[in-house]
Amino acid sequence: MDQQQKVTLTFSDATPALDLPILTGSVGPDVIDIRPLYGKTGKFTYDPGFMSTAACRSGITYIDGDAGILLYRGYPIEQLARSCSFLEVAYLLLKGELPNAAAKDDWVGRITQHTMVHEQLARFYSGFRRDAHPMAVMVGVVGALSAFYHDSLDINNAEHREISAIRLIAKVPTIAAMCYKYTVGQPFMYPRNSLGYAENFLHMMFGTPAEAYVPNPILARALDRILILHADHEQNASTSTVRLAGSSGANPFACIAAGIACLWGPAHGGANEACLNMLEEIGDVSRIGHYIERAKDKNDEFRLMGFGHRVYKSFDPRATLMRETCHEVLGELGLHNDPLFKLALALEKIALEDEYFVDKKLYPNVDFYSGIVQRALGIPTSMFTAIFAVARTVGWIAQWNEMIGDPEQKIGRPRQLFTGAPAREFLPLPRRG
Ligand code: SDX
Repeated sequence: MDQQQKVTLTFSDATPALDLPILTGSVGPDVIDIRPLYGKTGKFTYDPGFMSTAACRSGITYIDGDAGILLYRGYPIEQLARSCSFLEVAYLLLKGELPNAAAKDDWVGRITQHTMVHEQLARFYSGFRRDAHPMAVMVGVVGALSAFYHDSLDINNAEHREISAIRLIAKVPTIAAMCYKYTVGQPFMYPRNSLGYAENFLHMMFGTPAEAYVPNPILARALDRILILHADHEQNASTSTVRLAGSSGANPFACIAAGIACLWGPAHGGANEACLNMLEEIGDVSRIGHYIERAKDKNDEFRLMGFGHRVYKSFDPRATLMRETCHEVLGELGLHNDPLFKLALALEKIALEDEYFVDKKLYPNVDFYSGIVQRALGIPTSMFTAIFAVARTVGWIAQWNEMIGDPEQKIGRPRQLFTGAPAREFLPLPRRG
């Protein structure tokens, strides 16, 4: 990196001035390398939520929030979503280049050979209530995978990292579909290796032993595109969770389980489920104004789910593609008059004309339309975030892999601004008022 630039910190107290190098990446904002700061000045930086903090170097995904640009290894998301399969994109995110035909066939073949889970893993599900949220089950079962692969948990062994990545990409859809089957009391469906990745997922979700299930290719393609759009997204909350867990040397299955737990939150991956529930609660265009006023009311914790983003301050390119997929799927299913889709279009239009949303640069994000598409595919709302986790498992593994190989990385251990009680004498019980 070019380190010719620097910044000089001067302090109003007796702390001596300090020159800090400025690092420049291939594209995007420069960073101030503050690693010497505490040692030289005895001061920390303060940045809750990491609004202005780069936690790592990465070459995987780049977002320009003002321009609405999302690149996976340099390729625009629009081109990948329209021209690639999810497994091609998975290969790209993990290995840095798009596969040629031979590499693609080998990659798909290796993933396909690992789609089944250990038969004993199926017994974990019976310990959950039938109405358990699928994400609660996913966290538990994915974490439990580490109990089955003692032979390949050495994170410093590149072959172990590769087979763990293959196993997770291959098995997480199977585990997610099993979560759904368990809640509806239907038998688990084994993967069918003659099917593509998205088709196989639909087969495991909606197929039954009682009759042959033929996935609709249009719907399978739509699901494949949904997975591509959700595959990775820079250092978001769940990816940062995976990196922090991985920085301690935890095995990849445990790290991905931690990422699933973080993704579940409604401010993050849980927003698609929350957004659909919100649209159903709004119910009618005539009630949109009331909810927009609630979203603007500082005394009301209600937020317009599916709107706003830490990085995108113009538009989320994924939302644009998701809206397009909505039209395709609803058209294919003859649901183009779907009232919820029409309500979402109306809400988007009204919100984007409202001064509050314009001033705060709150635009629809990837979650705004994804729930409508998934609902049209017959996927229950409670499964939306589990499907987000299926997609993001690829990004989490790519980021985790990159972190393991980064010579600058060490165990993550932030500091704090302490505001509690300074040292004081112990107070024996009789003397406590
Ligand atoms: C994802 O990080 C990623 O990359 C995430 C993700 C990924 O692919 O990994 O893109 C996936 O998580 C998308 C986001 C899904 N979440 C939602 O749709 C939930 C609703 N959105 C908000 O919770 C919020 O917008 C966040 C969490 C997404 C972003 O929050 P920030 O960047 O911390 O911004 P903020 O909460 O400080 O909001 C800034 C202002 C605040 O008002 P003021 O304090 O300045 O007066 O905007 C307001 C907020 O009150 N605001 C909203 C709002 N989002 C922000 N007001 C009403 N409705 C909203 N949705």
